[in-house]
Amino acid sequence: MGMQVAFTDYGARIVSVLVPDKAGNLRDVVLGFNSIQEYLQADEQYHGATIGRFANRIANGHFHLDDEKYTLQQNNGSNCLHGGPTGFHAKVWDRRTSFKKKIDFCYVSPDGEGGFPGNLKVTVSYELTEDNEIVIKYKAETDKKTVINLTNHAYFNLDGEGQGDVLSHILQLPSDHFLPIDENQIPLDRETPVDGTVFDFRLPKKIVEDINKDEEQLRRGNGYDHTLVNHQPISQVAASAYSPDSGIRLEVFTTEPGIQLYTGNFLSGKDIGKSGRKYASRSAFCFETQHYPDSPNHLQFPSVILEPSQVFESETIYKFSVKKLP
Ligand code: BGC
Repeated sequence: MGMQVAFTDYGARIVSVLVPDKAGNLRDVVLGFNSIQEYLQADEQYHGATIGRFANRIANGHFHLDDEKYTLQQNNGSNCLHGGPTGFHAKVWDRRTSFKKKIDFCYVSPDGEGGFPGNLKVTVSYELTEDNEIVIKYKAETDKKTVINLTNHAYFNLDGEGQGDVLSHILQLPSDHFLPIDENQIPLDRETPVDGTVFDFRLPKKIVEDINKDEEQLRRGNGYDHTLVNHQPISQVAASAYSPDSGIRLEVFTTEPGIQLYTGNFLSGKDIGKSGRKYASRSAFCFETQHYPDSPNHLQFPSVILEPSQVFESETIYKFSVKKLP
């Protein structure tokens, strides 16, 4: 049986992802709401959304480009998070083409929007394949030198949205380095080996195994909220998750150099989801494929600069399957 995906042009979001489980029943593995009003009033604003212009945090809401200082809106303590309060998640995108299995969303962000330079033309295209993959392609062009970091903020629960926490999900990521963070969740300058740390997912590991350890990095993120460094080419799995309960497995493939592993630590329980259940802390996880947080302020990180002469392109695939048990 094939999967089904639904979108909205509000934030170019994924609204639902129905995937067959090991018994052949469809489960909706992405958190979200039944009406646009609920998205507008939600406590958590990023459900399933396209995040931009700059996914994740920019420290103190400013950065320099060619000696010019740019000031952004602060919406996460002193940080600018996910492009600020009126980032791409809060825009109504144009739906330009719509085939049965492909949908393109376009948005033109005017020069200076959210404090970022350049008129930025962005296209996000979603395609559903015969192999139960959602292929997401991002493309952007600017008329002035700028910075860009795009991702999707789908919250996954492979047992189905509203079906409790994800602590018994088993994760595997080949990353041998992660980015430690400071008290404001801004990455420190160094990529750190995962060896001997709670961030070592090179062998399959349940989320619950280390998440509640008394460890400084976990305290700073309130759980996992960290970038794992990705060196895999798009043909190789960069991250995977599996629920023994449903048998559903998610594999992620990406051109991006980082994956933000976020275990929904700040979900407050205030939002009531599609099936009438509360979305509490750790009731979902995100694999946000992206460049490193706060890159404009860390020149040694992979570059997030986009010049008018360039075309920004990035691709991420979320692939679903049912794992056959031995
Ligand atoms: C961040 C979290 C943040 C969340 C907002 C994630 O991408 O890493 O720290 O709370 O987005 O929903």
